[in-house]
Amino acid sequence: AIERTLSIIKPDAVAKNVIGQIYSRFETAGLKIVAARMVQLSRAEAEGFYAVHSARPFFNDLVTFMISGPVMVSALEGDNAVLAHRDLMGATDPKKAEKGTIRADFADSIDANAVHGSDAVEAAAIEIAYFFPALSVYSR
Ligand code: CMP
Repeated sequence: AIERTLSIIKPDAVAKNVIGQIYSRFETAGLKIVAARMVQLSRAEAEGFYAVHSARPFFNDLVTFMISGPVMVSALEGDNAVLAHRDLMGATDPKKAEKGTIRADFADSIDANAVHGSDAVEAAAIEIAYFFPALSVYSR
C-alpha cells in the first residue's frame, strides 16, 4: 500500500554534508519527498517529538543531541514506505546496521545515528503532523 513516513536527517549527518546522498537513497528506492524543511529544534520541540521515550534513560542525551544543530525533516511517500525507509536506515545502533545502510555508512554511535524514521504507519501520521500542516504535504 502507498504509505507516508517521517524522516529526520539528524545533526550529525547534516554536519557531514550528506543530505543529498541520503535523499538520493530515498529516491533510488522509489520514495518521494512530499514535504521537507530544515529546522533548528528547540528543546521543547525535541522533547515533544520524542515524548514516547521520555522515561528512557537515554532521553536527555537524545534531546540534547537533536538540538545540537539543524536537522532536515522530510515526509516520504511510496509503496510500503515505513518499512522501506527503515530498511534503508538499518539498525538503530550503527554497529549492528547492515552494510550499505545509511547508518552503517554515515552514523557514528547509537545517539549520533544519522537518521530517524517512523516505526509504524500510525506513528508516521502523528510525526508528520508534528512538523507539517496537511496543506504543506504535496502528494504527487
Ligand atoms: P531514533 O530512531 O531517532 O529514536 C530514538 C533515538 O534514541 C534512537 O533513534 C537513537 O538515536 C537514540 N537512542 C539512544 N540510546 C538508545 C537505545 N538504547 N535504544 C534505542 N534508541 C536509543
